[in-house]
Amino acid sequence: MRALRVNSPVRFHFAPPSFLRPGVLLIVVLSFLSAHHSHAADLVIPADLSVETQRCIGCHAALNVNIYQQWGYSRHFTAKIGCYECHQAKKGEPDAFEHNGALIAVIVSPKDCSRCHVKEVDEFENSHHSKAGRIMGSLDNVLAEVIEGNKGMKTEAFPGGISAAAVNGCWQCHGSVVKVNKNGKLDPATWPNTGMGRVNPDGSEGSCSACHQRHEFSVAQVRQPENCGKCHMGPDHPQIELYQESKHGINFYANKERMNLQSSKWVVGEDYSVAPTCATCHMSATKDMPVTHNVGLRIKYNNRPPLVKQAHETDAAWGLPSAKITGDMRKDNMIKVCVACHNRNFVDAFYTQYEAQLQLYNEKWAKPGLALYNKATEVLKAVKGSSYAMYSQMIDYTWFELWHHEGRRVRHAASMQAPDYTQWHGNYDLARNFYGQYVPELRTVIAEGKAGDANSQKLAGELDALLSKVLNSEDHSWSIGKEDPAVKAERDQRRQEFQERYK
Ligand code: HEC
Ligand code: HEC
Ligand code: HEC
Ligand code: HEC
Ligand code: HEC
Ligand code: HEC
Ligand code: HEC
Ligand code: HEC
Repeated sequence: MRALRVNSPVRFHFAPPSFLRPGVLLIVVLSFLSAHHSHAADLVIPADLSVETQRCIGCHAALNVNIYQQWGYSRHFTAKIGCYECHQAKKGEPDAFEHNGALIAVIVSPKDCSRCHVKEVDEFENSHHSKAGRIMGSLDNVLAEVIEGNKGMKTEAFPGGISAAAVNGCWQCHGSVVKVNKNGKLDPATWPNTGMGRVNPDGSEGSCSACHQRHEFSVAQVRQPENCGKCHMGPDHPQIELYQESKHGINFYANKERMNLQSSKWVVGEDYSVAPTCATCHMSATKDMPVTHNVGLRIKYNNRPPLVKQAHETDAAWGLPSAKITGDMRKDNMIKVCVACHNRNFVDAFYTQYEAQLQLYNEKWAKPGLALYNKATEVLKAVKGSSYAMYSQMIDYTWFELWHHEGRRVRHAASMQAPDYTQWHGNYDLARNFYGQYVPELRTVIAEGKAGDANSQKLAGELDALLSKVLNSEDHSWSIGKEDPAVKAERDQRRQEFQERYK
């Protein structure tokens, strides 16, 4: 196998600017390079590859042809940013190790990238994305650690064992807490891992290569919808599926070559206009907004919890500085993206449709569903005493899926123009599981409570009353035969007309 020489067989995406040609030494403030790439201050663009990097390449060009090649395609290569410039470490850093004469670390954390990319790192570090590892202490985590898993995976960092379900599932999207073992190697329960909110040995949160695949760090790759789809998919947040179903996705795949994905300047309406990708709407530049690495700044609603919240409310709860940016300001930001292609009136009408669906979900299912679940849990705790455990009875799964699966799907799908997910994977599943499963299970809990001690009976009575109130409400009374006769008659007539046509 022939080792490639730097500077010859590697291809460029673009011709290197003349001031980057070897031999010309220049100290460049990055903002000089291009309006859209340029956020770091005091960056020294070297004239040539550093001696240290040349040494790395001496071995690794043959050892890891792929890494060497990918790096050769990168902007970093053109800018003479080599292996050592990224992998260098300082004495005393927990994951630093001596390696053939240089002190390096395997992990290149956001803190390392921030030596050159201040703005991106700052925005990212203040976003929900970088905090995605924190949820590993949340309630859902009992799923992977206890209910689905066990403590069978033992490593140096986890002598008492850790769940392989958490390691291979949740952590790969949300991020691990990386542990360094005594020999300086990263503990295999915690690495490899490029989860979004990975907690790094240097204390920084997040992983840039959750999106930017090493070692090319290509903007075309990161702007692709599939990039986000690694994590944003599946029953509880099917954004990539929604995108594929939407007109936006259809146009993207039909006209990918007109998307100008490789261009360093990528302003919607100027550099491309056939379709928006995830990045377009949530991160990329418009005529009047720069690129942002805080993906929360264009969404008004947080559709993750059981009840719809506004994004600034959850940001406040998480202690993020963006809490001062209100939901309405974020919505205005998103509208700036839409109007690069659509008329304002069209966009406003879309939001009216979407917000009506949020309201429907919240009022019909989420509010009563949550109140019923809390009361049912009180009953079950009273009946079962110390043997009560969440997720050991079906009703826990039923309610969890109502809000966490179908309840999210319906909201996410309406926000991104995916009608099948809104209807058949959303509203239909909500109705089916509410009336077909949840209500019967609640009735069983009531019966169990009524057969129990005085306290159980009292709580079961309260649950019974609450269920009856919900079912007698306007949204649900049809299910106990109490629909307004006028409304029912009107619908029956329409049904008859419909059937006439198919006779
Ligand atoms: C003398 C040859 C040589 C030089 C010089 C060299 N490496 Fe390595 N490097 C290796 C070998 C061999 C391995 C181990 C391969 C293995 O065990 O999988 C390795 C492993 C690594 C690893 C992975 C370590 C791990 O624990 O997973 C990284 C990262 C790395 N090198 C980066 C660098 C950087 C950055 C430089 C320059 C500062 C460099 N190397 C210089 C030969 C070299
Ligand atoms: C722009 C910064 C950057 C540059 C330049 C860079 N790396 Fe990396 N490298 C990373 C990141 C980020 C990771 C992922 C580490 C992690 O977070 O798990 C990585 C991972 C690695 C790994 C471990 C993963 C694996 O697949 O084995 C090796 C080895 C490595 N780099 C070698 C190199 C070599 C050799 C060069 C020079 C040819 C180089 N790197 C240049 C950022 C960089
Ligand atoms: C030592 C400085 C330095 C470090 C460290 C560094 N970069 Fe860069 N990066 C640059 C320079 C210089 C450019 C080229 C800017 C240009 O061409 O406009 C660049 C360009 C990029 C680009 C744009 C690529 C394109 O095609 O437009 C991305 C993405 C990127 N870096 C990500 C990262 C990530 C992620 C890390 C950490 C893992 C990192 N960089 C570490 C200096 C650095
Ligand atoms: C395929 C990647 C993936 C896996 C695996 C995964 N998640 Fe998530 N998780 C996500 C994404 C993406 C979101 C954000 C969804 C959205 O905003 O639509 C999320 C959101 C969450 C939230 C809500 C955070 C908030 O801000 O309210 C919690 C809690 C959570 N996940 C816990 C877990 C747990 C625990 C596991 C393992 C049992 C897990 N996740 C597995 C990708 C994943
Ligand atoms: C959620 C995915 C995602 C993560 C995580 C991410 N980036 Fe980016 N990044 C992007 C996208 C998308 C673009 C392209 C934006 C555009 O030009 O439209 C980009 C562009 C860039 C650029 C090119 C300059 C620019 O603003 O266009 C740099 C530099 C960069 N990212 C650095 C980083 C660093 C450093 C980190 C880690 C702190 C990081 N990114 C984390 C998605 C991500
Ligand atoms: C490695 C997994 C992963 C990738 C890749 C990923 N995300 Fe995320 N994303 C998450 C997780 C996990 C959350 C939930 C974070 C939390 O609240 O704990 C999230 C949350 C979000 C949010 C909600 C943020 C907020 O403030 O409420 C948006 C919007 C988002 N992602 C968009 C994107 C886009 C756009 C891309 C691609 C450019 C992307 N994500 C790539 C894992 C990922
Ligand atoms: C046409 C623009 C557009 C595109 C393309 C788009 N989104 Fe969205 N996205 C939105 C809008 C609008 C919302 C809802 C905003 C609000 O609630 O205020 C949203 C909401 C979200 C949320 C928040 C969900 C939550 O739980 O609160 C995530 C995560 C997300 N999008 C990820 C993605 C991913 C991943 C892709 C690509 C597969 C994508 N989006 C494509 C416009 C877009
Ligand atoms: C880069 C251009 C572009 C951007 C930005 C964009 N769209 Fe679109 N949108 C399109 C195209 C193209 C279509 C398909 C047009 C058609 O079918 O005639 C479309 C279709 C739609 C539709 C019709 C859906 C259907 O199934 O009929 C809605 C609604 C919509 N977009 C809303 C939005 C919203 C809301 C935003 C901002 C969050 C947005 N778009 C951003 C290009 C864009």
